[in-house]
Amino acid sequence: MKQKMKQIIPDFLFDVLNEKRKLIQNRFLFKRDKKRFLKYYSRKNSTICEQIKAKILFYSHSIEKGLSHENIRLGFGKKTILYLLDNMSIYSKNNYDLEDPVYLNAVSIVKEYVHLHKNNSFNINYIPKKYEKLVKDCENSSLSLGGIKKFSSTTENRNKYRNFEELALNRHSVRDFSERPVDVSLIQSSIQIATKSPSVCNRQSSRVYILRDKDKIAKALQIQGGFNGYEIPPCLIAVTTDTRYFVNITERNQIYIDGGIFGMSLLYALEYNDLATCALNMMFDSTKEKKTRSLLGVPTYENFIMYIAVGHFKDHYTVPKSFRLKQKQITTYL
Ligand SMILES: Cc1cc2nc3c(=O)[nH]c(=O)nc-3n(C[C@H](O)[C@H](O)[C@H](O)COP(=O)(O)O)c2cc1C
Repeated sequence: MKQKMKQIIPDFLFDVLNEKRKLIQNRFLFKRDKKRFLKYYSRKNSTICEQIKAKILFYSHSIEKGLSHENIRLGFGKKTILYLLDNMSIYSKNNYDLEDPVYLNAVSIVKEYVHLHKNNSFNINYIPKKYEKLVKDCENSSLSLGGIKKFSSTTENRNKYRNFEELALNRHSVRDFSERPVDVSLIQSSIQIATKSPSVCNRQSSRVYILRDKDKIAKALQIQGGFNGYEIPPCLIAVTTDTRYFVNITERNQIYIDGGIFGMSLLYALEYNDLATCALNMMFDSTKEKKTRSLLGVPTYENFIMYIAVGHFKDHYTVPKSFRLKQKQITTYL
């Protein structure tokens, strides 16, 4: 069809029509992405198993993070624990699999939460009676999937001597850092390693911003909002991608894929250089986006991928366990 038209129509007209066709196709692709996301994401009152599991994971993680705080504040997460219990109840009322690791992880996190408060004689009567049985079941469970892990990092440069499997399986997001400043050469060396990340047609669109000024980091994290209650890290990295390096509308999501791959390589490289890290989201509404662009001087043609909080490991630190699914639970053979 395209070839036939090319023969009949003059070249200039063909190009104009072709551009018009692409424009219509482009609008359609963006519209379809939007429609698909709005149709399937886990919104309020969703009752599909995966959508409830998303909420259970979200609230479990939030409680688990609270449990890992160095200076734990008893009574933390009052609303979150109720949202978690509510979603666990909805899940069980819908007769979904109570042996699913996502549910079991939540059970063990509720158990840890209740035990922590009971052991410290802290009244958790903000948990309504309607959850009494569920809470009791969690308390009596012998599961230890969720909760916290404590580490002592007495040996220097541990990660330099680990093979990839050991490095990957022992990496944890660390949110409490030593006050020791981070030598910029370690960050530079990590970025150099991350530049070896693959990217679509080797377009290499990822860009990195390094923040080491405490006030600026504090401002950036205040806008970000997902790092509340922790000390300001000695270093914050922002990873972005440059849209100008993409040549076709079908690459519209590649700006995030290439950025994500680069971000993960950078996380591993920083860990390899014996730095503690935590990826932090840059999923902003328009106000936060505007403020962050202005604070960091990031132009509108760049896309926010992630922040990475970076610092040296403390001698002793605690992290959420952040359980993982087994490979067979996420793999399909065709
Ligand atoms: C893109 C991205 C954004 C994240 N955002 C946050 C965040 O805003 N706050 C936070 O405390 N952790 C954040 N995390 C860390 C995750 O909570 C963490 O990676 C996950 O729970 C798995 O734990 P692990 O990294 O210790 O294995 C983020 C991770 C990624 C990859």
